[in-house]
Amino acid sequence: MDLTTDYLGLTLANPIVASSSPLTGNIESLVELQEAGAAAVVLPSLFEEQVEHESFATDYTIDLGFDTNVEAGSGYFPELDSYNTGTDWYLDKLREANRELRIPVIASLNGASDGGWVSYADSLEDAGADAIELNIYYVAADVGATGGEVEDRYLRLVEHVRQAISIPLAVKIGPYFSSPGNMGRRLASAGADGLVLFNRFYQPDIDLDTLEVTPDLVLSSPAEMRLILRWIAIMYGRVDADLAATSGVHDAEGVVKLILAGANVAMLTSALLIHGPEHIRTVLDGVDRWFTERDYVSVEQARGSVSQRAVADPGAFERANYMKTLLSYAARS
Ligand SMILES: Cc1cc2nc3c(=O)[nH]c(=O)nc-3n(C[C@H](O)[C@H](O)[C@H](O)COP(=O)(O)O)c2cc1C
Repeated sequence: MDLTTDYLGLTLANPIVASSSPLTGNIESLVELQEAGAAAVVLPSLFEEQVEHESFATDYTIDLGFDTNVEAGSGYFPELDSYNTGTDWYLDKLREANRELRIPVIASLNGASDGGWVSYADSLEDAGADAIELNIYYVAADVGATGGEVEDRYLRLVEHVRQAISIPLAVKIGPYFSSPGNMGRRLASAGADGLVLFNRFYQPDIDLDTLEVTPDLVLSSPAEMRLILRWIAIMYGRVDADLAATSGVHDAEGVVKLILAGANVAMLTSALLIHGPEHIRTVLDGVDRWFTERDYVSVEQARGSVSQRAVADPGAFERANYMKTLLSYAARS
């Protein structure tokens, strides 16, 4: 089984990418990810706030809850003390990763406003990034802003980062658009070579003892992958960009489904934080076995074969399925 796949113009040995997380933030775990079979890694994000106000960095990561105990009791969780703080730190980490790893290293920029910080993408390219992932993590909390205005903000940002760099650009977005597929097309026209679907927006909680709003980072569960599966299946062959899946990819079955739906790569974070980097090997073996047993010869051949435009019942990815799903529950009970 030929597991190679193309993503952002890079030829990857297989479709498993370690997405941005504390695991991709230090060289020891980056090497472990590579040795376990990761075909590429995405470094933790450099945040807009870090570029604009260096001193803000540490407080910001603490506010985000990155230094708190994220299910650390049960899983593999490295020290977070130095999790992506500062721009020099970032460039040093990027150069080091580039030097020590054989696999492509994707740098990540994370922001939402169209300011001077976007020109920093250029420094990431100079420091040796093979590609840049721009995470537009934006919660549209201004109730005066229309959907169109929010979309324009995304497009301007992508255009400006595109102008700043000559390496490939992936754009990581959330699912909350009125027409995600159309937005995908417009992002591709604005310069995105790939779309990373979808961001998990971490939801705040209220602490009933202190009445404070608290950040609460909960790792994903496999059920979250369904949303991604649908939109990859719908966008495959219709949006002129590579498709990367993130959120809820935990096992070989998940990766196989995403490839069949049309993904170029599947990204893992939560599963690796829970089981450790070596989990990639288990996933890869499972993917290889599933395809080999069914006589597929390559990932390329399998990609998109169960996408919306390939299946006999395209409605299965749309509303038609809603009614059937409700009826199937009623029939069960
Ligand atoms: C502790 C932690 C830190 C993360 N840091 C980043 C980050 O710096 N930039 C980013 O784009 N995504 C970041 N993510 C999001 C992951 O890259 C990924 O998109 C998300 O966890 C969904 O994938 P999963 O279901 O495999 O966990 C982080 C996730 C976790 C759990």
